[in-house]
Amino acid sequence: MVRPTFVITGIFAFVIIQTFALIFIYSRQKIDLSPSDEQNSKAHILILSSWRSGSSFVGQVFSQHPDVFYLMEPAWHLWVRMHQNSAKVLQMAVRDLVRSIFLCDMSVFDAYMSENRLVSNLFQWEVSRALCSPPTCDYYERTDLSNDTTCKKHCNMSKFFKIEEACKTYSHIVLKEVRFFDLKSLFPLLTDPSLNLKIIHLVRDPRAVIKSRDKSVYALLRDNRIVLDTNGKDIEQNKAEASNYEVMKEVCRSHIQIHETATKKAPDFLKQRYMMVRYEDVVRDPLNEILAMYKFADLSLTPKLKSYIYNITHGTGTGSAFKITSRNARSISQAWRTEVPFEKILKIQDICREAMNVLGYRLVETEHEQKLLSLDLVLPLRKYKFTWLSSDENSV
Ligand SMILES: *[C@@H]1O[C@H](CO)[C@@H](O)[C@H](O)[C@H]1NC(C)=O
Ligand SMILES: *[C@@H]1O[C@H](CO)[C@@H](O)[C@H](O)[C@H]1NC(C)=O
Ligand SMILES: *[C@@H]1O[C@H](CO)[C@@H](O)[C@H](O)[C@H]1NC(C)=O
Repeated sequence: MVRPTFVITGIFAFVIIQTFALIFIYSRQKIDLSPSDEQNSKAHILILSSWRSGSSFVGQVFSQHPDVFYLMEPAWHLWVRMHQNSAKVLQMAVRDLVRSIFLCDMSVFDAYMSENRLVSNLFQWEVSRALCSPPTCDYYERTDLSNDTTCKKHCNMSKFFKIEEACKTYSHIVLKEVRFFDLKSLFPLLTDPSLNLKIIHLVRDPRAVIKSRDKSVYALLRDNRIVLDTNGKDIEQNKAEASNYEVMKEVCRSHIQIHETATKKAPDFLKQRYMMVRYEDVVRDPLNEILAMYKFADLSLTPKLKSYIYNITHGTGTGSAFKITSRNARSISQAWRTEVPFEKILKIQDICREAMNVLGYRLVETEHEQKLLSLDLVLPLRKYKFTWLSSDENSV
C-alpha cells in the first residue's frame, strides 16, 4: 500500500514542476509573440548630414561597433530611381524608406531595386560591418573590425534577404542620410511608438564643404539636379560649378532649419533626441566627441574600438578613414584656407552667412585672415539652449 503522505508530496512536487514549466513556456512565448516590445527596446539612430561633411567617417565609427547594424545612405536608391523629381517631393518617400529600414523591413527596397538582388547591389554595402559578418557573411566575426575592400572580395554573393535577417539581430540600427532638408518631415518618426529615434545632426564648415564639392563637381550633378528641382533636366557642364553654390544655399538653409526646429520652442518629443555635432570638433578631439555620440546613442566604448579610433585618427595601424595625423589634423581640416581662392570664400560666406553664425564658424574679412592659420575660425561651440513648446523655461 502506498502511503498517503507520499502521494500528496508527489502530487505537490508535480504541480510545482508543471507550474514552473508553464511559467517558463509562457514567458518565452510572450517574448516571441510581442515583436513590438522587442522593437521598442531597440535604438534607432539617424545621422543627419549633408554631402562632404565627414559623415562617412562618423558612420564608420558606428558601423564598427559590435551592437550596431549600419547602412550608409539607403535613400540613394530612391533618388536614383526617382531622379525626375525634386528633393521636396521625394522627402516623404525617403522618410518612409528610413522608417521601414529602422523596423528591419527591407521589402521597401522592392520599389527601387531589381528583383533578384544580392546584398552587394546595395549602395556602399561593404562599409557596413554587419553585412560582412554573420548571419550575412562568415568572413568576419561579429566582434571583428571589418575592412570594406576585403569585405567586398569575400561577401559579395550573399542573398539580399540576409540584410533583414542581420538587422533583426542588432540592438542598435544606425542610418546615415544626407537627403533630408527639413526636420519637421521626421516628426512622425519621432512620435512613432514602434521607434526609438535619436538624431545626430552632423555639420561642417561650408567653406571646407565647397572645397570638397568643387573637387567632385560631376559626381554630384545628379544630386544637384534633384536638390535644385530642374524638372529632370540635366545641368549643363558650364553651370556645374554654379550649381554647387546653389545647392550649398539649400544645405545651409536646411542646417538652420533643422537646428532651430530642434532647439527653439521644440516639441517635447524631441527631448534627449537631438544632438548637433561639428565635424571640426570631431577632428580636433575624436575620442571625446565620439564618446559623447556613443553616450547619446546608449553605446559603450570597447577597448578594441578605442584602439581603432586612435588608429584611424592618427594614421597608424590598418588604414585611416581620416587620412590625417593628430599633429596635422587641424591643418588638414583647414586646407580650404590655403587652397581655395579668396573670391570663392567670400561667395560661400555670403550664401551661408546665417548658417555659419548659427553653427559657430567665424567669417573671414580679408585674404590675410583666410591664410592666417593661427586665427581660429571654429568658435567654441555655444552650448545650445533648448526651449520647449510646453514651457517658456530653458532647460538642457
Ligand atoms: C564578387 O567578387 C568576385 C571577386 O572580386 C568577382 O569576381 C565577382 O564577379 C563578384 N560577384 C558579384 C556578384 O559582384
Ligand atoms: C592599432 O594599431 C596598432 C599598431 O599598428 C595595432 O597593433 C593595433 O592592433 C591596431 N588596433 C586596431 C583595433 O586595429
Ligand atoms: C583595407 O584593406 C586594403 C587592402 O588590404 C588596404 O589597402 C586598406 O588600407 C584597408 N583599409 C582600411 C580602412 O583599413
